[in-house]
Amino acid sequence: MIRRFLTVLFLTTTLSVAHAGEGMWIPLLLKALEGDMQAMGMKMTAEDIYSVNQGSLKDAIVHFGGFCTAEVISDQGLILTNHHCGYGQIQSHSTLENNYLEDGFWAMNNSEELPNPGLYARFIVRIIDATEMAMAGVTDDMTDAERQSMIDKNLGIAEVAIRKEDWQEVMIRPFFKGNQYFAFVTETYNDVRLVGAPPSSIGKFGADTDNWVWPRHTGDFSMFRIYASPDNRPADYSPDNVPLKPRHSLPISLDGVDEGDFTMVFGFPGRTDQYLPSYAVENIIETIDPTRIAVRERSLEIIDQYMRSDAQAKIQYASRFASIANGWKKWIGEVQGLKSKNAVAVKRAYEAEFTKRVNANPAWRAQYGALLPRFEQLYTEIEPYAKQRELHNEVLNRNVEIFRVASLLDRLAQRYENNGAAGYTAYKARLDGYFEGFYKNYRPEIDRDVLATLLQRYHEGTPADWQSAVLTEQMMRQSSADYVEKLFADSRLTSPEGLTKLYDDDIEDAIEHIDKDPIVQLYRALTENYNATVAPRYSELNDEIDGMMRDYMAAQMAVFPEHTFWPDANSTLRVTYGKMMGYEPRDAVYYQPQTYLDGVIEKYVPGDYEFDLPAKLIELYEAKDYGEYADDNGKIPVCLIGSNHTSGGNSGSPAIDASGNLVGLNFDRVWEGTMSDIFYDAEICRNIMVDTRYVLFIVDKFAGAGWLIEEMKLVHPKK
Ligand code: ARG
Ligand code: GLU
Repeated sequence: MIRRFLTVLFLTTTLSVAHAGEGMWIPLLLKALEGDMQAMGMKMTAEDIYSVNQGSLKDAIVHFGGFCTAEVISDQGLILTNHHCGYGQIQSHSTLENNYLEDGFWAMNNSEELPNPGLYARFIVRIIDATEMAMAGVTDDMTDAERQSMIDKNLGIAEVAIRKEDWQEVMIRPFFKGNQYFAFVTETYNDVRLVGAPPSSIGKFGADTDNWVWPRHTGDFSMFRIYASPDNRPADYSPDNVPLKPRHSLPISLDGVDEGDFTMVFGFPGRTDQYLPSYAVENIIETIDPTRIAVRERSLEIIDQYMRSDAQAKIQYASRFASIANGWKKWIGEVQGLKSKNAVAVKRAYEAEFTKRVNANPAWRAQYGALLPRFEQLYTEIEPYAKQRELHNEVLNRNVEIFRVASLLDRLAQRYENNGAAGYTAYKARLDGYFEGFYKNYRPEIDRDVLATLLQRYHEGTPADWQSAVLTEQMMRQSSADYVEKLFADSRLTSPEGLTKLYDDDIEDAIEHIDKDPIVQLYRALTENYNATVAPRYSELNDEIDGMMRDYMAAQMAVFPEHTFWPDANSTLRVTYGKMMGYEPRDAVYYQPQTYLDGVIEKYVPGDYEFDLPAKLIELYEAKDYGEYADDNGKIPVCLIGSNHTSGGNSGSPAIDASGNLVGLNFDRVWEGTMSDIFYDAEICRNIMVDTRYVLFIVDKFAGAGWLIEEMKLVHPKK
C-alpha cells in the first residue's frame, strides 16, 4: 500500500523545491517540474525534453562507453564529450611519431576518423515505470531474500514482455533504494570513431593542480562520430557503415549564458547518497574519507617525487597519478564541505523532526519507529570494520601496483584449479595483453617505495585482533623498507622478463612458481586474513543497513510529503537544472561564473607539465583572431559554472540553455562543493563546464577543422 502511495505521491505533489538546483530527475517524470523550470527561465516544455512521440532533447544524449555522457551535435552523428572521457581512445591511437595526446588529432574528412573497438554510444529510446511489474506478488511479510528473488523473477519476465524492436535492449533498475523500478529501452551503437581532440595542453590544461578547482581554464573536450548500418541501425564496425542520422541534434549557441540564466544538464550521473542517516555521514567525515585520503597522500607524495626528477616517470605515471589524485582531492573537498555546512547537525535536526512525526502517528511508529535507533547502533558497530575495509582496499587494490599482478596470478591459479588446463590457457591469453600494457608504465622502484610506506601504515593501522600473523612476524623482524626490499629482490613479478620465466613454463611448474612467489604469498596472506576477520561481519552489517535504507527511504517520503524527493543517481539518464551562478568560497571572496582566454594566458608557464600552451594558441590570442566566437566584449569565454547538481558520470554532459541550445560541456565540480554527492548545498555546489564558444574556436581557428563547423547548426538565441 505504501508503495502505491509513493508512486502517486511522486507524480502529483506540487513542488516546493527547498534548494534551487538540487536533484537529478527522471526525464519521464518532468511534467511535475515543468512549472518550476519555467519559473527559473526555461522556455521549453517537459515534452520538448523527453517525448516518445517526437524527437526531443533526450534523443541527442548518449551514454558514452558506460562511464561518461556525450551529445549529438550534427545531423551526421557527430558527438561531443570530454577530453578526459576520450583519453583512453586518444592514447590508444597514439605512437611516438603520432602522439595525439600531446599534439592533438583532427580528422579532415570522414575517411580519417579512427575506429575504437569496445567503445559504444547508447541512446535511451523510452523509459517505463516498471514498479508494478517488479512488485507483483511481493508482500510485506517476506524476508529480504524472498522479496529479492520474487523481484528478480518478475524483472526477468518484464524484460521479455516490454515491447521493443529487434535491435533494441531493455534494462531495468531499482530507484529510491528499491521502492520503485524503471525500465529503459535502449539502442547501442558499437561503431564510434574518433574525430578530433585538442592537444593535452588545451584539453587537460591545468591538469591535477587545477582539477576540481574554480576558476578553471581547461578545454576538456573531444569529438567522436557514431556510425550505423546503411539502414541507420546499430551495427558493429564495418567500412560500409555510414554516419548516424539522429532523431535530434543540439543546435549550438554562439551567445552563451549570463549570470542568472537558466541552464540544465542532461546525462548519466553515476552514484549519489543523498538520503543517508546522520550516523553514516559522520562515518564518512570521521573515518572513511580520512582513511582513503591518508593512504593516497603517502603514495602521491612518493610518485610525485619521482615524476619531478625523472622525465620518463612523468610520462609513465601521469595517468595513474591523475586517477589517484582525482579521488584524493575530491574527498578532501567533501570532508571540508560537509563540515563547513554542518551536514551532520542539519541531518540530526531533520531526523529529530522525522522522529517527532513518526511518534505522533501509531501506524508509522509501529513501522518506522525503530529505524533511526537501529541505524545508530549499526553505524557505530560497522565503523571499525568500514575503516579496515577502506585501508585494505586502498593498499591492496588501489595504490600498490604489484598487488594487482599478484591478484591476477592468484586468479589464474584458481582458474586452473576450477577449470583445468583449458581454463588456465584461456585466462592466460587475456592476461598477456594486460601485462604488456602494465609493464610499459611500471617502475619497480616507485612501487617498492609505495609498498614499503603503505605496508607500515597498514600494519600500524590494523587493530591487534585483525593483524595478519604473516605480516606481523615479518614486521617484528625488520623494518618495512628492508622487508619490501627483500620481497622485490626475491619475486619474479617485478619485471616482464621475470613474469615470463614465472609462468611461461608448463602449467604445473607455473602454478608452483606462483605459489612460491613471496609477493603472491603476502597478497594471499593479507587477503585471506581480511576475508576471515573483517569481511564477514562487515557484509552482515552492511546488508542489514541496505535493507533498512529501503524502509527509511519509503518512510522519509511518507513522513515529509512537503518535500519533493529525487532518486539517488544510479548511472541512468537524468535531468538537473539550475542557473549560471558564481559563489562565495569564503568570507569576502566572490567567484565570477565565467573565465576567458585572457585567464588561460595568465596561467601559462612555458615548458611546465601542467600549464604549458601551444604556440598557435598564443598567436591567435595576440592577433585576437577570434572569428565569430568572441563575446560582445571581444573576449573568448573558456569555462563557466552553474548550480546544476551533477556527479561523476556527468562528464561530457551537455549544458543546455532555456531554449534547448548547447551552451557548455560539463566536466567537473568546484572543490568546495564536492560534498554534493551526499549533501547538496545551493550556496556552494557548482558544476564546471567548458563554454561551447571555446570549443568552436579551438576546432575552427586552432585546429583548422572548419569542415566540422559546417555540419553543426550555430544559432544566436539572444540576437
Ligand atoms: N575531476 C574530474 C572528474 O572527476 C576530472 C578528472 C580528470 N582530470 C584530471 N586532472 N584528473 O572526472
Ligand atoms: N569529472 C567527473 C566525471 O568524469 C565529473 C565531475 C563530477 O564528479 O561532478 O564524471
